[in-house]
Amino acid sequence: MNTNWTRRQFFKTAGATAGAVVLGGGLAEFLAACASSPSTTAANNLEIFSWWTAGGEADGLAEMFNIYKKKYSGVNIINAAVAGGAGSNAKAVLTTRMQGGKPPDSFQVHAGQELISTWVKAGKMEPITSIWKSEGWDNVIPADLKTIVSSGSDVWSVPVNIHRGNALWVSAKAASAVSATTTNNLDNFLTALGAAKGLGVQAPLALGSKGNWQVTMLLENNIVAVGGADFYRGLFNGKSSWTDPNVKKALTYIKSMLNYVNTDHATLDWDQAAGRLQAGTSVATIMGDWAKGYFTANKWTANTDFTGIPSPGTGGTYMIVCDTFGLPKGAPDRDNAVNWIKVAGSKDGQAAFNPKKGSIPARTDVSADIFDPIAQRFIGEFKTAKLTPSLAHGSAAPEAFASGVNDEMGQFVQKKDVNATASNLAKLADQFLK
Ligand code: GAL
Repeated sequence: MNTNWTRRQFFKTAGATAGAVVLGGGLAEFLAACASSPSTTAANNLEIFSWWTAGGEADGLAEMFNIYKKKYSGVNIINAAVAGGAGSNAKAVLTTRMQGGKPPDSFQVHAGQELISTWVKAGKMEPITSIWKSEGWDNVIPADLKTIVSSGSDVWSVPVNIHRGNALWVSAKAASAVSATTTNNLDNFLTALGAAKGLGVQAPLALGSKGNWQVTMLLENNIVAVGGADFYRGLFNGKSSWTDPNVKKALTYIKSMLNYVNTDHATLDWDQAAGRLQAGTSVATIMGDWAKGYFTANKWTANTDFTGIPSPGTGGTYMIVCDTFGLPKGAPDRDNAVNWIKVAGSKDGQAAFNPKKGSIPARTDVSADIFDPIAQRFIGEFKTAKLTPSLAHGSAAPEAFASGVNDEMGQFVQKKDVNATASNLAKLADQFLK
């Protein structure tokens, strides 16, 4: 049994049932109380923390739980998901738990800075290097992905998928106005939105900006569109400047897009915005391919009822959003957590999870045949695309910068002040990226 678990249980039990005895110093009495108290029976749990509660993402998670249950039938799985896209609520809950010494057994964490700066550098994780080796993941998970979940000589989590953050979803109803050819760059896209409006679609572009991160996605995608993948990457490695005119240009395009969005966007999350396409009040939305998981969970067929293409002007680039699972220090059910990590990294796990989730597998040996045609195209494009790490989804920059940008973009969507926002973004970069 894991010593951390024992210590945790000890204090938990002491607090809940036998505190007075223990505080009185009577270890023997405490142990006797333990023996007779049913609440102290070692529970065989697995608590998994994520923010996967919406259509598609919740279904993908359930698939992995099913595989786990088949293998480890005696384990009671606790789904500790906290609603709110991009972890807008979950991350705060997780931080409180981790700081309070009450980690879940394993949690969803983005590859890159969110994993490494937030948790590994703070000494809150156990390396999973030996699991990585024993499972043979070097043979099936690309080295680039391994790199973004590694630091020092250790690996710290296992990637379960790759989402594409730069995607535009269009309903079949919009086909005449907003199509692959009318959306290949930002100017054409704006013209297409105007045409859709002309045809009577009130708010052609669905937006849910609750939590602001969705507007950060518009920013990162538009920066790639106007400046290219290398320019975007340079913003995080010091080779490009946040004062470059491309940043203002990207913001100006968002400002123009805002002429076509639903007025209630601040009250909606991403899935509710996607729902507007199904309701027919909007015809397009820019969102990661978890939106595809949402549509298919809600009975739309890919390439029949809707289609998905790179967001305007970003063809040839893949904005990487990579979900992973790691092992927090002091995981109460450590052995069960290790088995969970193995399922998350397994071929069966990824084959069950990703088609529902909307993502493509992190493993290279999962057959593309089980995926919808949009995912199949994305799997092909991923192989040759320029890869860019998402800022909105934890990979590109430390949390302090990402959340500062989210706040700023929340202001921008209200005030639409390009100059003020550009200057505030540059200040944030000075503060957190140097
Ligand atoms: C992202 C996450 C995705 C998806 C999305 C919306 O941060 O990587 O898996 O869940 O948020 O909640």
